[in-house]
Amino acid sequence: MLNRRNFLTAAVGVAAAGGLAACAKEDESSSTSSDGGSGGSGGKKLTLGFSQVGSESGWRSANTDSVKSAAKEAGYTLKFSDAQQKQENQISAIRSFIAQKVDVIAFSPVVVTGWDAVLKEAKAKKIPVVLTDRSVDTSDPSLFVTLVGSDFTDEGRRAAKILEKVLEKAGHKGPVKIAQLEGTTGAAPAIERAKGFKEVMDADHKDDWKIVVSQTGDFTRAGGKQVMAAFLQSNPDIDVLFAHNDDMGIGAIQAIEAAGKKPGKDILIVTVDGVKDGFVAMSEGKINAIVECNPLLGPQLMEVVQKVKDGETVERWIKTKESDFMQDQAKEALPTRKY
Ligand code: AHR
Repeated sequence: MLNRRNFLTAAVGVAAAGGLAACAKEDESSSTSSDGGSGGSGGKKLTLGFSQVGSESGWRSANTDSVKSAAKEAGYTLKFSDAQQKQENQISAIRSFIAQKVDVIAFSPVVVTGWDAVLKEAKAKKIPVVLTDRSVDTSDPSLFVTLVGSDFTDEGRRAAKILEKVLEKAGHKGPVKIAQLEGTTGAAPAIERAKGFKEVMDADHKDDWKIVVSQTGDFTRAGGKQVMAAFLQSNPDIDVLFAHNDDMGIGAIQAIEAAGKKPGKDILIVTVDGVKDGFVAMSEGKINAIVECNPLLGPQLMEVVQKVKDGETVERWIKTKESDFMQDQAKEALPTRKY
């Protein structure tokens, strides 16, 4: 995985990368920017190959829309491929982009490991790679230029900190039995959110908080519902659910209600993302707090892609700005949510 400290401090000269310059569902869109621009400094339209994880969540749909509309706005030719949550599809898509000689490849890696071979192929063909949303674990940092995305470890820490407020507000005293619904196994947000949450737990709640069950729900509603139903069978006395995204939290709410319990009251719920459906559930009192993870990365990504193509220096990690929301803010915030 990425060394986050390096990320914070390093900035890379990408002159070399600039000079460096699918078997999943692939589509191509080509357009002219609103100012009639060419989408590139040299008159030729920039071609971007983008491999998306899939369409597992509301967050992902908002991210896909953001990437597509920002590419259109920038006047780039976008070759978009949906990997349907399969690493082999992403690897095929990246190979296809290399064969098509795109200017830049961007992708959101479904899992952190297993990318070196294909990234070396891109490097050999002098095609720069930009990561977006999720990181990779590589021994060779020259295989990608930058990451545009969130600090997932910090999101995990923020989830634990906001849970302190939720417990206080609910007047909960004594030990806290926590169920954790993890994201896709091996994915950066699943690994890092769990890590950040545990960090705070180990530092400040060693004696009172305990994760009694933890399992992946693959970032989907169906997964969240199914796994939560099993959690409730094995641990009927769960106090808190920490779900790595809203969709799994919403699926879990259905399982909690089916078990005759009240989500947000009998079981306190903290999720990550902040999609509209999450805010609806929170305004209904069923989610207690949400840690925001912003999916609207398209405009920032297009800016970076242009810089990389032009051989400009970019930060090694371009972080997203995010907020946290308690239940009493939900009704007011809901109408202005953009995704
Ligand atoms: O990588 C971001 C995560 O992926 C989002 O939190 C989740 O909803 C999505 O599927």
